[in-house]
This record gives sequence, C-alpha cells and structure tokens, in this order.
Amino acid sequence: MSASTTVGYRCPVCRERLAEAPGDFACTNGHRFDRAREGYVNLLPGGRLKGRSSGDDEPMVRARRAVFDAGLYDPIIDAVAETAATLVDDVGPPAVVDCGCGEGSYLARVCDHTGAEGWGIDISKPAVRAAARRYTLQHHAVASSYSLPFDDQCFDIAVSVFSPRPHSEMFRVLRPDGAAIVVRPGPDHLAELKAIIYTAPRRHGDVADQDDAEGWPKAVSTRAVTFEVDLAEPVLRTALLEMTPFWWSATDAQRAEVADQVLRVTADMRIAVFRSQA
Ligand SMILES: C[S@@+](CC[C@H](N)C(=O)[O-])C[C@H]1O[C@@H](n2cnc3c(N)ncnc32)[C@H](O)[C@@H]1O
Ligand SMILES: [Zn+2]
Repeated sequence: MSASTTVGYRCPVCRERLAEAPGDFACTNGHRFDRAREGYVNLLPGGRLKGRSSGDDEPMVRARRAVFDAGLYDPIIDAVAETAATLVDDVGPPAVVDCGCGEGSYLARVCDHTGAEGWGIDISKPAVRAAARRYTLQHHAVASSYSLPFDDQCFDIAVSVFSPRPHSEMFRVLRPDGAAIVVRPGPDHLAELKAIIYTAPRRHGDVADQDDAEGWPKAVSTRAVTFEVDLAEPVLRTALLEMTPFWWSATDAQRAEVADQVLRVTADMRIAVFRSQA
C-alpha cells in the first residue's frame, strides 16, 4: 500500500482537478472555490446539497470537542489509529480520507500514529471549521460522503466513524489494495442514556446484519471496543448527551435527569475493516 499518485481535490462542478493557490482552488474551466480563513475549502455545490441534512450544528460540534478534549473517547480514538497502523506498510506514507470527519480528532490521531497524509470531509461547516482551525496538518473540506471531491483510487484508507458510509463512493476513492475502517455502535452503546430517553430502548443490531443491509462486503475483521465513560463532571454529562441524536428526543426533564444522575455510561463500539474488492 503506498501513495503513488498525489491526492488533490476535484472540482464538484466539472470533476477536473482543482489547482491550489494560497487563497483559493480553481479548475481549468473557471470554477473557483475560496479558501476560508481557517484553511478549509467549501466544495458543496451551491454551499449545500438540496434535500440533505447540513450535518452537525455548532453546539453539537462544541459538545463533541469537549468530550474528546476531556479524553473520554480516547479508547476508541486510539483504537481507530491502531487499526489504521496495522493496515499500513512501509512503502510510503499512506493517504487517508475521513468521511464525516466531524471536528477532526480521529483523523488527526490516525495521522499522528501512521504518518499519513490526512484528508477530512464533512457536510457540516461548523465541524470542518473546528477541524481546520486546530488540525492544520490535515486537509479539510466541506463536502458530502455521497459525492467525495476526489479522483478514483487515490486513498489507501477510507474511514467512517459514526457517519454516513456510502459503500460505492468510499470504495471508488480507494486504491485496489486499500481498506475501509468503519466504526459503528455496538448493542450496548450508551445504554444508560437510552434507558432515560426512550420508554422502550432499541438495541443497535448486530454488525453483520448491518453489513448485509448496506451492501458492504463481509468485514475482514471486526473488533469490539467497550469501555466505561466516567462522567464525574456534570458539564460533560450534558455534552455527551448533546453530541448524540438522543439530544433531540430528550425532554427538558430528561436532559436534567442526565445532567444530575448519569455518573458513567457504557461505550460499546465496533471497528470493522473492509478490503477494496477491485
Ligand atoms: C455522529 S457525527 C461523527 C463525527 C466524527 N466522525 C466523530 O466521530 O467525531 C456524524 C457526522 O457526519 C456528518 N455528516 C452527515 N451527513 C453527511 C454527509 N452526507 N457527508 C459527510 N458528512 C456527513 C455530520 O455533520 C457529523 O459531523
Ligand atoms: Zn470545474
């Protein structure tokens, strides 16, 4: 596995390669995309995709950052980085794309661990802004995982952590010997929060069932990462709830109950590795 061709953005309008200048990115057909002050570029045509969500909002991004900065998700962030390291050979620095990178911590840790060149995309502008502001060694763009702004077969590893994972698009940008790393919730993920928010909490299904449903090939490996999240600090209880979709279902009383009473929760996640089939 090696980065034999350099990665670059392709134009979301005409698909030509975008040439990078200090202030913008432009193709030979005259489509131009300004670089934001924080260093990222918005490659969503018209700024956003019709009918699709615009992703995590500013408070969700802040909450996620607070939880990560407190180290509460270090076991899974480290495990993703370790998984990436096992997929890398010593031919050259790998190129990694994180599809739905959020505020950027997973991609940055993968790059620290592997020496990879990192490219993070997310449909949320606040998330990409936060990622670009802090993690200046990686490239960040506002874009959709359903239409990745990259040429075919330019990455060694494609990552998706709790984000949409369109199989055909992720494998399009992977080299023939590339690998995808997908992180999903396990059956007991955040069970203590769910027990408060939902009267009949649903457990997440088995990973194998999800692969079938989404057209993914069989994983070459699946690792369970399960740990206790210590929520001694009340502000982190609210942050953990706010970074999940449970926040939107929770009543004010349930939000208060979480903030007052949930001292620890179970994190139960699955890291699956898939090989490119080309
Ligand atoms: C649960 S968050 C996970 C973020 C990050 N991977 C993490 O674990 O910290 C889901 C992310 O997917 C992003 N997202 C949603 N739809 C998307 C799409 N079509 N393309 C790219 N990102 C998307 C959201 O904006 C959000 O940042
Ligand atoms: Zn163009």
